[in-house]
Amino acid sequence: MAAKGTLYFPPGFLWGCATAAHQVEGHNVNDWWRWEQTPGRIFQDQRSGAACDWWAGRYAEDFDRAAEMHNNAQRISIEWSRVEPEPGKWDQDALDHYREMIIGLRERGMKPMVTLHHFTNPLWVGDHDGWLWDEVPERFEQFTRKVITALGDVCDLWCTLNEPNVYATNGYIFGTWTPGLKSVKKAARALYNQLRGHTRAYHAIKELQPQSQVGLAIHLVGNKPLPPKWINQAATRFMSHFFNRSFLDAFTTGRLRLTGGGRYRFPKAKGALDWIGMQYYQEFRSGFTLRSPGTLFVAQSKPTDMPVGPHTWGGLNPTATFDMLMWLWRSLGKPIYITESGVPDPDDTIRPGYLAESLKAAWRATTLSIPLKGFFHWSLVDNFEWAEGYDPRYSFGLYQVNFQTQSRTARLSARFYGEVCAQNGLSAETVERFAPDVLEKVFPGEAGKAQVTLKARATGTYSRVP
Ligand code: BGC
Repeated sequence: MAAKGTLYFPPGFLWGCATAAHQVEGHNVNDWWRWEQTPGRIFQDQRSGAACDWWAGRYAEDFDRAAEMHNNAQRISIEWSRVEPEPGKWDQDALDHYREMIIGLRERGMKPMVTLHHFTNPLWVGDHDGWLWDEVPERFEQFTRKVITALGDVCDLWCTLNEPNVYATNGYIFGTWTPGLKSVKKAARALYNQLRGHTRAYHAIKELQPQSQVGLAIHLVGNKPLPPKWINQAATRFMSHFFNRSFLDAFTTGRLRLTGGGRYRFPKAKGALDWIGMQYYQEFRSGFTLRSPGTLFVAQSKPTDMPVGPHTWGGLNPTATFDMLMWLWRSLGKPIYITESGVPDPDDTIRPGYLAESLKAAWRATTLSIPLKGFFHWSLVDNFEWAEGYDPRYSFGLYQVNFQTQSRTARLSARFYGEVCAQNGLSAETVERFAPDVLEKVFPGEAGKAQVTLKARATGTYSRVP
């Protein structure tokens, strides 16, 4: 007998997928493109090249796929280098192209969420080491004003920055992304400039389009101490503060405080957010090590008590999505979108269970009246995964892409996600068919019973930093 019961999401919940311009468009000429030209930086020295061929028009067929999955929203990003290839020189054709894409989403019944900065910069910004350049916030505001003036009539849900914490860490501490620097102080400056850029963009958008909803997407990592706990607890707190907390704190305190990087006062940031985007993928263990002076003697490693992702990818703990949501809600008190959630999994063996458990965790948060407003799966199609290039181990798509032929093949998870979106909920029957291995976890003992109407109460135990 088929399992019964459905975990319904609130009416009007947004269901979609997320993509980023440089990862799907193809043939962008920006600071990442320049970074790709030097051997040794990208997996097998690959280059983004044609990516998923979206700029040449293939976005349309992928939007069809999203619509077939009953997505009612879609998160895409605008490539700054296309719109402003040289300082102050605007490319109207590029803006028209984005307009077509956004209208294409709306015509297919999907609400656009548009990100204004997803890691990449025009070359002329890259020339100044990206967001280390103190002029970037003002330039970014000008770019934002141009985009909102051109597209504000077809989009009102804006995400200013994608993962300022990842951008700062990879580009300025680890040096594995452009501009390839290794300095905690510089990372702090780049983070501060992103805070200034976001705040300027936020106020500019609200001025031009008062009814819009403006937020940003932050990356949260799960973080626990390596044994012995008493030594490594401080390292864990440091990591959590630096990575998860410091940037967000600025929206409530007006201050950015980064141990080892500096302190900045920026009162204008207070309250400059309508919503926050959460991107949670993985969990690490933290500890002190004398071998890592560049990261202030703190290092992260893979957990040994849970499944882990490929290469440097951390532990896969989808149920912690709930803890992250609770923490974010308690920290900021703003409506939340899960702007990315996904797992690297070419064979689609892990994804269905991971998706089911993540959705259960997200649903639990909604039962506590957390204003969770949407879920965007990363990603719609396999794409260019930054330093991992087209390494097949880093395949995140609901649709597999053959980058030689540009053909797409639906993974099983695409059908699974499509059913969830169509039902505005996760049913036991769907989980039983697509992710039977987690059925008992997601519907414990309840599989086969009537509608689940669990109304959990906030317990007050989730105020700790994840
Ligand atoms: C980024 C994406 C990336 C994904 C998977 C997120 O941190 O926003 O651009 O592809 O993670 O690594």
